[in-house]
Amino acid sequence: MNFLLINGPNLNLLGDREPSIYGLISLEKIESNLKQKALQEGVQLESFQSNSEGAIVDCIQQAKGQVNAILINAGAYTHTSVAIRDALLGTKIPYVELHLSNTYARESFRQKSLLADLAIGVVSGFGPKSYELALDGMLAFLKSQKT
Ligand code: DQA
Repeated sequence: MNFLLINGPNLNLLGDREPSIYGLISLEKIESNLKQKALQEGVQLESFQSNSEGAIVDCIQQAKGQVNAILINAGAYTHTSVAIRDALLGTKIPYVELHLSNTYARESFRQKSLLADLAIGVVSGFGPKSYELALDGMLAFLKSQKT
């Protein structure tokens, strides 16, 4: 199986950015840990990060027919991007929305997601562990579809 991990704007700054909210681990480390965990589950995980909304839309479009699932932390675009929502809807690739922080315990503008209602599930608030939980959740979902 092939999965795609997408990280949106400012997540390239992890480790340095607001460590009291997002912790000290870098995105590079999160990605390599998750790739390793995925491999143990028989999943080839590719990762992509961009600060640009259009680049994320392009990446989702190009993933059609190439990947079984998407794990996405769209960062601030979660709360604003109709374009990313439409790309996910248009490609029909099952996805999990994930966040390091608990967005529901933060500012009101972060409590709204344009991606959540189309997602298989949402993981929010477990720090870097959110990435692993998103992978586990997606694997469980895909397994349940086979039976
Ligand atoms: C985030 C939460 C978003 O509200 C924020 O804009 C981010 C990171 C998270 O992982 O907690 O950039 O997606």
